[in-house]
Amino acid sequence: MAEKELDQSFWDNRYIGRDTPWALNCATPALTEYMEDKKRDSSILIPGAGTSLEGIELLRMGFTNITFCDISPSAIAEAKTKVTEACSGVDFGNIKFIEGDFFALEGSYDYIMEQTFFCALPIKMRNDYVEKMYRLLKKNGTLFGVLFRTEFEREGPPFGGHIDEYKSLFSNFFYIKEISICTNSVPPRAGNELFFICKKIVKE
Ligand SMILES: C[S@@+](CC[C@H](N)C(=O)[O-])C[C@H]1O[C@@H](n2cnc3c(N)ncnc32)[C@H](O)[C@@H]1O
Repeated sequence: MAEKELDQSFWDNRYIGRDTPWALNCATPALTEYMEDKKRDSSILIPGAGTSLEGIELLRMGFTNITFCDISPSAIAEAKTKVTEACSGVDFGNIKFIEGDFFALEGSYDYIMEQTFFCALPIKMRNDYVEKMYRLLKKNGTLFGVLFRTEFEREGPPFGGHIDEYKSLFSNFFYIKEISICTNSVPPRAGNELFFICKKIVKE
């Protein structure tokens, strides 16, 4: 897979063709458990959200300010339908669905949740990803989520990686509060994921 082909039509066709092996049938526990004690009006961005079961679970938990972003129009349309079906009665005032490129996003968030978005991007964009995350977070904002701790035999996406590489990449912009083997992965990913929490370092 040539990296330049990972564009909107590539991703949209995956959803249209129902070729979405990354889609789980439950929200990733590490992500929703991390948010359990957070303020319910925190602003949360889910980039590369797909049809985001995590977003739906956060709404069920009472979070009121969530932005779903995905470059695939089909994914965003499906996310909207699923959220509306699953969360009737929820106040959608601060729930946003952005169909577009993460790298063109503007805004500032308390939390950004990483879930199989980093691994979907061409490897050459990893520095840009980290810098963009930094720019999209509020002063005391947090980037957290799960990353693969394995290389894949087939050419990606997903593109894998290793803890040392992630530490060196993220520490350019963030204080890495935690990066360790995820202890509550869903069974198919058990042992192959790292859970991480990165705090924004504000450069005065
Ligand atoms: C592997 S999928 C993961 C989807 C979702 N996070 C999940 O776990 O089900 C990667 C997602 O990133 C989206 N994506 C890829 N490049 C993007 C970009 N530049 N901006 C926003 N979304 C993008 C794709 O459309 C796709 O939905």
